[in-house]
Amino acid sequence: MNPTEIIRKKRSGAKLNRTEIDFFIHGYINGKVPDYQMSAFLMAVFFQKMDFEETTILTDIMLHSGIVIDLSKIPGIKVDKHSTGGVGDKVSLILAPMVAACGVPVPMISGRGLGHTGGTLDKLESIPGFRTDLSLDEYKNVIAEIGLVMIGQTNEIAPADKKMYALRDVTGTVESIPLISGSIMSKKLAEGIDALVLDIKTGRGAFMQSEADAVDLAKTLIAVGNKFGKKTIGFLTDMSQPLGYAVGNWLEVVECIECMQGKNVPDLMEVTYVLGGAMVMLGGKAVSIEEGISKCKNVLQTGKAMDKFKELVRRQGGDVSFITNPGKYPKSKYAIEVKSTSKGYVHNIDALEVGFIGIMLGAGRMKVDDIIDPKAGIRLMKKVGDSVKAGDTLAIMQTDNQEILETAAHRLEKAICVATAPCAPSPLIRAMINEEGIFPWHGLV
Ligand code: URA
Repeated sequence: MNPTEIIRKKRSGAKLNRTEIDFFIHGYINGKVPDYQMSAFLMAVFFQKMDFEETTILTDIMLHSGIVIDLSKIPGIKVDKHSTGGVGDKVSLILAPMVAACGVPVPMISGRGLGHTGGTLDKLESIPGFRTDLSLDEYKNVIAEIGLVMIGQTNEIAPADKKMYALRDVTGTVESIPLISGSIMSKKLAEGIDALVLDIKTGRGAFMQSEADAVDLAKTLIAVGNKFGKKTIGFLTDMSQPLGYAVGNWLEVVECIECMQGKNVPDLMEVTYVLGGAMVMLGGKAVSIEEGISKCKNVLQTGKAMDKFKELVRRQGGDVSFITNPGKYPKSKYAIEVKSTSKGYVHNIDALEVGFIGIMLGAGRMKVDDIIDPKAGIRLMKKVGDSVKAGDTLAIMQTDNQEILETAAHRLEKAICVATAPCAPSPLIRAMINEEGIFPWHGLV
C-alpha cells in the first residue's frame, strides 16, 4: 500500500476501507506521509466525500490516535456540548457552569478561534491567570472536585485531529462533513463523556452556511455519537447575525457575567437555556428538555450558576476579582462608534464579516502564531429587527490598532444593513435532531 494509491482511489470517488484509512492517518502522525500528501487526501475527501461507514472509521482512527480519558470513577452522567462554531458564540461560558450547578458533571475540551469564528479557549484565557493547559491528572481532579472543567486539546487527545486540523485550516478543506465529523467527534469521544449536545450553526457566519448542509452535518454527527454509545442530540441554530451583542474575547466574558447576574440577552439566553435543558435531561436530572430548562433558569436566577463560574475561574488559576469587578480590566486605546446614516430597521448584521472585522481589530488570529488582544472586539448596539434613527450608534469597535480603524469602520458600516421596512430576525432555533429524526423546535423561552 502506498499513500498515492489511496489518494488516487479517493480522488476517483471510490470507498476506502479501514486498512487504507488507518495506513494513511497513522502514516501522517508518524511523519511517513508528508503534509503535501495529506493535503491532497483532504482535498480528495472534500470533493468526493465519505459515506457513513468511512466517516465512522475515520473518527475511530482519529479518536484512538491518542488516549481516551476514563471518567467512570466520577459519579454522575457526564455531559458536554459542542458548537460547530460561530461569531459571538459565548454560550459555553454560561452553559457549562449552569449545567454543573444543576448537578450534571461537565468535562469540556474546547478549541481556539478558527477562521472567522471565536473559540471558548481564547475567551477563557482573556481572564487574567486562567489556565486552560491543565494536565490530564489536573483535568480529572478539577472535574472530580467541582463537577466542571474547561481545558484545551492536549497533545494526548486526538493528536491526529490536532495535526490535520492545522492543515485543513490552510488548505481550504474545513467545510467537509466527514472531516468536521472526524475532527469534532474524535475530540469529544476522547474526553470521557457519556452524552453530548450539539449546537449546529447555520447561516452566513457558520461553516455550513446552507440549512440543508447543516442538517446533513447534524445527522452525521449525531449518528456517529450514538454509534460510539454516547447519547447525542443536536439543535440547528441560526448564525446569520452574531449571537448576543459582544464579539471579542473579554467583551464576551463580560456579556456572560452580566447574563449570569440576570441580564436578559434574548438570543444568547434562548440558545443557552435550550442546550442546557437538553444537557440536564441527558444528565439524568430532568425527565424532559423543558424540565431541564426550568432547572437551568432556577440556578441562574438564584446565583448558583455565577457561583459555579467563579469556582471554576478560581480553581483554574484565574483572578476572580475581574469577574466580580470587570470594570478594572484594561481598556482599548480606541473606541470607535459606527452610526446609522438613515432611519429604518436593521435588516442584516453579516456575522461572517463581523467575524473578520473582529480579527482585524485584534480579537482573532490571521496566522496560527498571531497574539490575540483580549480587549479588542465589537459591541453591537442593535440587533436585526431593531428600529433605528439616523445618527444612532449601531456598534462600537474597540482596538489598540490605529492603522486599521478606518477600513474596519467602513467594513462594519457595510456589514450592518438598515432598510425602511420593518423586519424580523431569522428563526433562532430551527430544529431539534436526534437519532429518530429532525423535529421543529417550538421555542420555549
Ligand atoms: N470544530 C472542530 O473542532 N473541527 C472542525 O472541523 C470544525 C469545527
